[in-house]
Amino acid sequence: MPRTLYTSRGTAVDIGRELGKGGEGSVFDVPSSSSQVAKLYHKAPDGKKQAKLSFMASTADAQLLNYVAWPQETLHPSRGGPVIGFLMPKVSGKNPVHMVYSPAHRRQDYPKAAWDFLLYVARNIAASFKTVHAHGHVVGDVNQNSFMVGRDSKVVLIDSDSFQVNARGTMHLCEVGVSHFTPPELQTLSSFDGFKRTTNHDNFGLALLIFHVLFGGRHP
Ligand SMILES: Nc1ncnc2c1ncn2[C@@H]1O[C@H](COP(=O)(O)OP(=O)(O)O)[C@@H](O)[C@H]1O
Ligand SMILES: [Mg+2]
Repeated sequence: MPRTLYTSRGTAVDIGRELGKGGEGSVFDVPSSSSQVAKLYHKAPDGKKQAKLSFMASTADAQLLNYVAWPQETLHPSRGGPVIGFLMPKVSGKNPVHMVYSPAHRRQDYPKAAWDFLLYVARNIAASFKTVHAHGHVVGDVNQNSFMVGRDSKVVLIDSDSFQVNARGTMHLCEVGVSHFTPPELQTLSSFDGFKRTTNHDNFGLALLIFHVLFGGRHP
């Protein structure tokens, strides 16, 4: 079904074929731009989520975009209508980090990868966290599917709309998480609803990712 949406500036954007699907939304090609994709939500975002996305799109900068598929423009069903998705840089030629740390997948997809490659990947994962933290935000839901790794060891984070975002003091929380990347002191929480994470909670997830990358996908 061909579909035309509009950016917050009123520019028409045609939506192409579906590239991927997650729990919250699907990601589509944008035929007019080979470097961008559109994420559209399965369920219309509420006012708070719309404000989060508008804030994110208005604060996209070169440092963030170097490490994160960060929203660049909100998308609307009509000019001036509600936010139903956003444009972000397209991530291509990269695999989720679990494909890199699993020795079997690594042999297949990164046959030339040795220790130097793994060290660069670990370094670049750390730099991606540093960039998010330097902007006042927290990744929150650290997991093996969000860190996309290239054959050049470059790392780009996807699913940034679920980050914990500090919009000049207004907190947009990340209310999900994966237990095996969650620090011990949060293991007893019944849910992340209303829970404000710190950069140190992220750092626990970072340490686990580095351990996985350097030790063949094992959990410490
Ligand atoms: N920037 C991107 N470029 C290309 N594909 C992407 C991008 N972001 C997400 N995808 C694809 O879309 C899928 C779902 O995106 P994600 O943001 O994880 O959705 P959700 O938040 O709904 O779980 C991903 O697993 C990936 O395959
Ligand atoms: Mg998500």
